[in-house]
Amino acid sequence: MKIRSLVVLLALASSFANAGGDAARAGAEKSAVCAACHGADFNTPVSADIPLLAGQYPDYLARALIDYKSGARKNPVMNGQTTALSAQDIGDISAYIGGLRGKLKSIPLQRFLSSN
Ligand code: HEC
Repeated sequence: MKIRSLVVLLALASSFANAGGDAARAGAEKSAVCAACHGADFNTPVSADIPLLAGQYPDYLARALIDYKSGARKNPVMNGQTTALSAQDIGDISAYIGGLRGKLKSIPLQRFLSSN
């Protein structure tokens, strides 16, 4: 494993361990700029092509942000939004947004299969 990935993972692990505590508080400040598009509660995005984030799994959010930052996931807006984020920032932001209440929910597999 590359050293950089290890550093990112360690920072994330410590952030998640603090979820709801320091990381979430720091994440609230660091994600203020993100609210311009994703909505102040991260549950009311300003347009239909911007995803809901509140209540998403923190590790999913972190993965998305890491991939935008590295360019593995391509989106001109989000690639730009993530260039300046450190591993600590990503962990804090993911802990904060993941801890918010939101409309995201999983559909029970059986219901999904029977409707498709
Ligand atoms: C200018 C508007 C804008 C801003 C500001 C913005 N985003 Fe986004 N965000 C988007 C759009 C549009 C997408 C969908 C991109 C795609 O299709 O991959 C997105 C996607 C995401 C995703 C992926 C969600 C998923 O379900 O896969 C995450 C996570 C995310 N943004 C977090 C953030 C964070 C954290 C910030 C602040 C650092 C931020 N965004 C700032 C517009 C924005």
